[in-house]
Amino acid sequence: MPLVTTKEMFERSMKEHYAIGAFNVNNMEIIQGIIDAAKEENSPVILQASSSAIKYARINYLMKMVEAACEEAPNIPIALHLDHGPDFETCKMCIDAGFTSVMIDGSKYDFEENVAITKKVVDYAHAHGVVVEAELGKLAGIEDDVNVSSDDAMYTDPVQAKEFVERTGCDSLAIAIGTSHGAYKFKGEAKLRFDILAKIKELIPNTPIVLHGASTVIPELVEMCNKYGADIPGAKGVPDEMLHKASVNGVSKINVDTDLRLALTAQIRKVFSEDPGAFDPRKYLTPAREQVKNTVQHKIRNVFSSNNKA
Ligand code: G3H
Ligand code: 13P
Ligand code: ZN
Repeated sequence: MPLVTTKEMFERSMKEHYAIGAFNVNNMEIIQGIIDAAKEENSPVILQASSSAIKYARINYLMKMVEAACEEAPNIPIALHLDHGPDFETCKMCIDAGFTSVMIDGSKYDFEENVAITKKVVDYAHAHGVVVEAELGKLAGIEDDVNVSSDDAMYTDPVQAKEFVERTGCDSLAIAIGTSHGAYKFKGEAKLRFDILAKIKELIPNTPIVLHGASTVIPELVEMCNKYGADIPGAKGVPDEMLHKASVNGVSKINVDTDLRLALTAQIRKVFSEDPGAFDPRKYLTPAREQVKNTVQHKIRNVFSSNNKA
């Protein structure tokens, strides 16, 4: 089937209390690994690309690879989403190229500026049949080009969230409840503010909620990377149980990038370490792609519960 928007996916996820995985892509192997997993699990899926990923892959290649994915998985609803759109122009470029969903990340602005830029994107996107994710609140860590120190981490204010959604008409809202991007999310215990999530769902029950910075930073993959020469000490993410709890409590979209990076890297490092003579890319990219698939499959089936929801 052709690319779909996230509208129906999210409506059903809210009704049946599960989440859709949104996986960051920037090359063919990652796209194939994700789609192979979604097909085997019969799950809807969101492929998302950041502006730097689009620069890397080049938009024409990206569109063609995603088109191929849709042809290979005719029964799987697939949405193509711009992750952390930095400005109106980038959102417009993606909408014009055929993305079905865009995020305008105005979280770096003050409330009024965030409302204004989000509304501008919503007007253009809706006129072209595209849905819009916006963000309110700040995640600790690195967000694309924006660097927010953990001291500045600012949880989403539920009352502001209601006003923001009403004034912008955005289709989904990314919130800050304690997650952060990258491999170092928590200094001590992992902690998410489920009380804030509950309050937001109470005030805007029909708005799909998005969780960024939601990789588990899978310990086995970190260990494997380190075993084969990486230096990623003390990495920590959001445990599976917390993500599952978020999925059944109103989070409709869960963003995963870091875990896929770790999956790919762990297998590539293993091949290079065990076979220093290897130089055929297929030799290391085949197990890397398989590890992406297994990682996505685990999340779909055991954490987000979107299996058999295609
Ligand atoms: O949230 C950010 C994503 O992990 C994308 O990162 O800009 O390095 O592609 P990137
Ligand atoms: P992670 O770094 O936790 O994978 O988060 C990815 C993300 O939020 C993409 O927008
Ligand atoms: Zn993000």
